[in-house]
Amino acid sequence: MCGIVGYAGGRNAQPILLDCLKRLEYRGYDSAGIAVVGDPIQKGLQLFKSKGEIAVLESSMPEMTGTVGIAHTRWATQGRPTTENAHPLSDCTNRLAVVHNGIISNFMEVKEHLLATGHKFVSETDTEVFAHLVEAEMNGDLVAAVRKALEKVEGTYAFVVVSAGHDEIVAARRESPLVIGLGDGENFVASDVTALLKYTSRFLHVQDGEVVSLTRDEVRIFDSEGTAVERRPEKITWSLEDAEKGGYPHFMLKEIYEQPEAIHDSLLGRMESAEPEPFFQGNSFSSVKIVACGTSYHAGLVGKYIIEELAKVPTTVQISSEYRYSPVSRESPLVVLITQSGETADTLGAAREARKRGNKTVGIANVVGSAITREVDHVIYTRAGPEIGVAATKTFVTQVVALYLLAMELGVQNRSLTAQARRSMTSFLRSLPRYVQDVLNKASEIEAIAEKYARSDDMFFIGRSINYPIALEGALKTKEISYIHGEGFPAGELKHGPLALLSKDSPVVAIAVRDHTYEKMLGNISEVSARGSPVIAIGFEGDTDLPKFADDVLSIRQLPPIFTPVPVIVALQLWAYHLARIRGCPIDKPRNIAKTVTVE
Ligand code: F6R
Repeated sequence: MCGIVGYAGGRNAQPILLDCLKRLEYRGYDSAGIAVVGDPIQKGLQLFKSKGEIAVLESSMPEMTGTVGIAHTRWATQGRPTTENAHPLSDCTNRLAVVHNGIISNFMEVKEHLLATGHKFVSETDTEVFAHLVEAEMNGDLVAAVRKALEKVEGTYAFVVVSAGHDEIVAARRESPLVIGLGDGENFVASDVTALLKYTSRFLHVQDGEVVSLTRDEVRIFDSEGTAVERRPEKITWSLEDAEKGGYPHFMLKEIYEQPEAIHDSLLGRMESAEPEPFFQGNSFSSVKIVACGTSYHAGLVGKYIIEELAKVPTTVQISSEYRYSPVSRESPLVVLITQSGETADTLGAAREARKRGNKTVGIANVVGSAITREVDHVIYTRAGPEIGVAATKTFVTQVVALYLLAMELGVQNRSLTAQARRSMTSFLRSLPRYVQDVLNKASEIEAIAEKYARSDDMFFIGRSINYPIALEGALKTKEISYIHGEGFPAGELKHGPLALLSKDSPVVAIAVRDHTYEKMLGNISEVSARGSPVIAIGFEGDTDLPKFADDVLSIRQLPPIFTPVPVIVALQLWAYHLARIRGCPIDKPRNIAKTVTVE
């Protein structure tokens, strides 16, 4: 996720671009940059970028003059968050500038080809290849050059391009958001309407496959065949604050709804290659230790089941702050440190300890270039984009996706996963966003059930096997944002103590998908019902038995057991969200907790 803006008009572009860019900072803030076409336009390009937040760019950039320009605020996915990797990126001639949101999945292949034909690269980004491709195709017509360059790239993108000597901006979209803002004698392009609301309320939404040309007087849209498209502008009446949340009342809800896209981005370009990751090549680990805190710890617990099933490698999971007190094991495990922020002090401490013990380490992080990435031997990035709500949602789901990828890598390496099994895993993973979308489509059902139980003081969550950690995560989400006392248990543990807490006022959420634990889960649900507690069961669609045991049922589309944690947690995120909303809690900033915990 990154923020993009472009301006073509009659006013000086630089202050307008900067002003609009600040509205997009929630989309990324590790580096920023701006390019303005010289005035007169023959003068060439003025380009400036810097590492850090937009404020750093603002305080350090020189004054630029020109009425056409583009700007970008970055959330790194490919290449570290450095000044060189910041956007806009240019080509060999420095007469072209490109900003990009998305991931070019075949960029290595394209880059190798460009290198062989004499192109020189200055950044580690996938975006730079696009600048070179456009330059290679440039023959005076910027739209034609962009269209030809697009034929060579795969993946997702919103590109915006300017060129010295042109008073035109060219933009293109595939799966990453892009809107055009229409002004009087000026036109804009941006990642979303938030950036532009101060300047206009008339918008055109760019569709997948379209290429757009903007000048101060004209906006032309072309479909993927190059045919001109007519589109009527829409009038948007959101406030600035509403717009930043994409029209959702809270960032948490927006982030819950972003999960299909986040899963898709996390998988992009990662499953095509039959070649193992060089880090894993020749490295066969006899055990894995996963270390993390909070929600990331729960992802680690899910990871244990996934790794043991796919790679047949014994896996233990430990809370980061406890890791240093654990005995040094004789065999050297692969230590996997999971932290979405990459800055959690306890997890950083554990990473240092693991290295001191001589273990190989892998970090799973969402923030490119964060501290953890310097403390581990190999990093797997989740590509969830910035998460603003304190409660982790899309970062959790993409951590689980990263653990499927890691488990497959380990399984292939030690030959416990056949090529055929890997292919079918891969093809199922690709369809996972659709299962998540199905759950999102049932939000109003979840809301209606939440309405019945929102006044409870206590709530319990039970599950077995791979869904036991999901019970823990459901409880954590519930307690942190709704302040209902929520506790998760392995369903089999209830009778060893927790049953004493049950009463008619303590609803129990039971994850009862039809897997090898199903019959036992029904038994546990009966135990709960016998104590008078209402049961809300999460099961598969078409399960006609579950409603006989539970007071309320939430159904998810049937899928292989190993993938069930993903749609089930999405249902529980919505559950926690609606409980909190009904209770009037400050959902995005729950009391007493911080998004990044930098103390031990
Ligand atoms: C809960 C939550 C926290 C974090 C924990 C670790 O919603 O967000 O429990 O998961 O503080 O944070 P990271 O993953 O940044 O190390």
